[in-house]
Amino acid sequence: MTTNITEDSVLVALSEVIDPELNKDLVSAGMIKDVTVDGNNVAFTLEFTSGGCPLKKELEDASRGAVAAIEYVEEIEINVTARSQEHSHEGGGCGSGGGHSHGGNDRSHGLPVKAPIEGIKHTIAVASGKGGVGKSTVSVNLALSLVRSGATVGLLDIDIYGPSIPMMMGISEDLEITEEKKLVPLEKDGLKLMSVGFMIDDETPLIWRGPMVMKLIEQFLRGVNWGELDYLVIDMPPGTGDAQLTLVQNIPLSGAVIVTTPQDVALIDARRAIQMFSQVEVPVLGIVENMSTFCCPHCNKTTDIFSSGGGKTTADRYEVELLGKLPLDLKIREGGDAGRPIATTEPDSKEARAFMDIAQKVAGKIGSMTAG
Ligand SMILES: Nc1ncnc2c1ncn2[C@@H]1O[C@H](COP(=O)(O)OP(=O)(O)OP(=O)(O)O)[C@@H](O)[C@H]1O
Ligand SMILES: [Mg+2]
Repeated sequence: MTTNITEDSVLVALSEVIDPELNKDLVSAGMIKDVTVDGNNVAFTLEFTSGGCPLKKELEDASRGAVAAIEYVEEIEINVTARSQEHSHEGGGCGSGGGHSHGGNDRSHGLPVKAPIEGIKHTIAVASGKGGVGKSTVSVNLALSLVRSGATVGLLDIDIYGPSIPMMMGISEDLEITEEKKLVPLEKDGLKLMSVGFMIDDETPLIWRGPMVMKLIEQFLRGVNWGELDYLVIDMPPGTGDAQLTLVQNIPLSGAVIVTTPQDVALIDARRAIQMFSQVEVPVLGIVENMSTFCCPHCNKTTDIFSSGGGKTTADRYEVELLGKLPLDLKIREGGDAGRPIATTEPDSKEARAFMDIAQKVAGKIGSMTAG
């Protein structure tokens, strides 16, 4: 009896097997290659960095067991290989060297990785260590400010567990697919938009497993009819865990903007985010200090609700630029919730001008990097 065993289901099963030395699953560690499914028979390569790994047999057995547990699987062929020493990053470890790719074609997910995206000049990740600090707000208003300054811009929401772009841009329509099987981005206020939020309703719980996440993101990057873009702004999910590391090391990024609020707890996470990007050699374009100061609309008194100055201290310490400080402001929050971003609705307000200033600094940084 033949059933639909897929490469994805094999990768999902193998992502349950942990290499105790790397403390990573075999798929994230880049140790699984060349998965093929032929009817009910599965074959794949299990690649170690060194031939003499004591865990080799144990991991081979564990991966065989994981795949055998997939319903209807009959034969399993595992090709166990060792990467040559000159290609090993960790010289003699059992794993893959952490799966870090610095360009080229790492096909650990069965995907072309890090290759530039056709038609897109620059990709900018908007990230933070801590959740809820304003990444999506900054992404939307940064992207709209870049549009206002004359650029062609796309905005991609890869926060697949908590997509905010449909709400913040006030748009959610069914996606169309071209004859070439590419998704057509939605368009609003001159921005091309893509989000997993356009594919599901608000009630649907999302359960994406590691390898499926990378496939979906690859689809969003290369399977979307973006056309020619000067910038693709990417709204990242919060955090600096393994999932985020996999994303940033697999997406071809020109640079990252780190968003933080000024209080210590957020700054510690911002530092982690800076370190994560430097670990995978993605330039940090700078820091945005969000929710900096609150100006009371009644008495005009200013209050540093989340403290102040932390963005500057962190920027100085890591030798990155403080791109700007955004006030804690009712209009910014209301605009986000109502799908009416302030950069579009009140472009001359001081808040919108702060976003424009950040956008110009980001464009300038990228321009100078490209020129250099
Ligand atoms: N400067 C600001 N002034 C007032 N409200 C703000 C400001 N920045 C963000 N907010 C509000 O704070 C909330 C969280 O912001 P946002 O969704 O942009 O954060 P996030 O970092 O993307 O969150 P998540 O980590 O969940 O993706 C939203 O309701 C947003 O409207
Ligand atoms: Mg967000």
